[in-house]
Amino acid sequence: MKIIVDNKACAGHARCNEVAPGLYELDDNGYISTDGFDVEVGQQALARRGAKACPERVIHIVDE
Ligand code: F3S
Repeated sequence: MKIIVDNKACAGHARCNEVAPGLYELDDNGYISTDGFDVEVGQQALARRGAKACPERVIHIVDE
């Protein structure tokens, strides 16, 4: 499973980081700092919860 982040659309709500701080890190301005990464099997549920928590829907799950 892979995460793709449309980080130009991030509005800095930081809910992704509140739900899954180890996966969705923020930059110094409070915006998501990654444009995507691979998710290990044990972290997939957490990654999905973090993605769902974003009100702007900028975090996308790609199942492989
Ligand atoms: Fe940005 Fe959404 Fe997280 S707006 S900081 S990706 S909750």
